[in-house]
Amino acid sequence: MFKDLTPVKVGLKTQILPADEAAVAAAARCLAEGGLVAFPTETVYGLGADAAQAPAIARLYEAKGRPAFNPLIAHVADIDAARQIARFDATAIRLAEAFWPGPLTLVLPKTAHCRVAELATAGLDTVAIRVPAHPVAQAILRAFGGAVVAPSANISGHVSPTTAAHVASDLTGRIDLILDGGAVSVGVESTILACFEEAMLLRPGGLPREAIERVLGHALQRLPEDAVNDDAQPLAPGMLASHYAPRTPVRLNATHIEPDEALLAFGHAAAEGAHAAKAVMNLSAAGDLGEAAANLFGYLRELDAKGAHTIAVMPVPHHGLGEAINDRLRRAAVGR
Ligand code: TXA
Ligand code: MG
Repeated sequence: MFKDLTPVKVGLKTQILPADEAAVAAAARCLAEGGLVAFPTETVYGLGADAAQAPAIARLYEAKGRPAFNPLIAHVADIDAARQIARFDATAIRLAEAFWPGPLTLVLPKTAHCRVAELATAGLDTVAIRVPAHPVAQAILRAFGGAVVAPSANISGHVSPTTAAHVASDLTGRIDLILDGGAVSVGVESTILACFEEAMLLRPGGLPREAIERVLGHALQRLPEDAVNDDAQPLAPGMLASHYAPRTPVRLNATHIEPDEALLAFGHAAAEGAHAAKAVMNLSAAGDLGEAAANLFGYLRELDAKGAHTIAVMPVPHHGLGEAINDRLRRAAVGR
């Protein structure tokens, strides 16, 4: 299935354009020609390729250095387009109507005529679909007309990008175009639900579990803890234990700080020894989880650049967006 991989084109000239109307048209053309385009969604920046062009998808895996068994999310403009590529049962329709466009990805059975390339779904008979709300993502999807597969626009294993500058620092010379639409609003990736007979949470993300449970009217099934592992065939692909790692080691639930450490704080309580820390950034001094999610990846990148021995992270509450924040922090702490 992967034998027709084309060699990676590094040394490409990567254009960065402000995300205006002309740039959106250029992005749609570039995708149609098999190019790779990074663009903002409300969660994180995505790296897009035409979902129907296997060679473009092969280039995308190469540009990210992503293991090809880890499948991609297909992005479409609306539910009608989504129903061309996946089969929706009553629950899936209810969730899509409640939360699309927005930070929710549904994993559903492919339709018989699904045009998403096998390479993008890693040979599975399911496909992950998302309808992003960001106006630039919406404009590109409408101008392009088809499904666009887009993982986060970072080198595989790095922290996801929340600004165009983050994308450029990882992928310049490896992709064709970056549309700069400013900083994203949500800051963590979409929540992923598998929706077969019952909905199952595969990845906590930008849509809090509580909101989904309110629509379903019952608690969501959880993945067993041991589904998060480093096997080549994880139960849910992409649930690799280490995935969002900065280069500096990360220490969780820190209540006191060593002088060589950088501090990632949360809330107004002071950590013991914080005054002597190498650097301090506060995810949200007000203790607001939405603000903390929006700041998380950018602050991890900044603290990673301080040359600290360790990034010590204060405890973050586990409700609402805290579940996704703690998931990403836990993965960052596993290291690579
Ligand atoms: O917010 C987001 O979801 C961003 C923006 C760009 O849309 N995208 C994103 O993509 O986070 P990525 O590739 O970094 O993560 C997609 C996750 C992976 O963990 C992958 O394994 C999982 O979705 N996935 C994709 N297709 C799947 C499938 N058929 N079954 C189970 N998991 C799947
Ligand atoms: Mg990613």
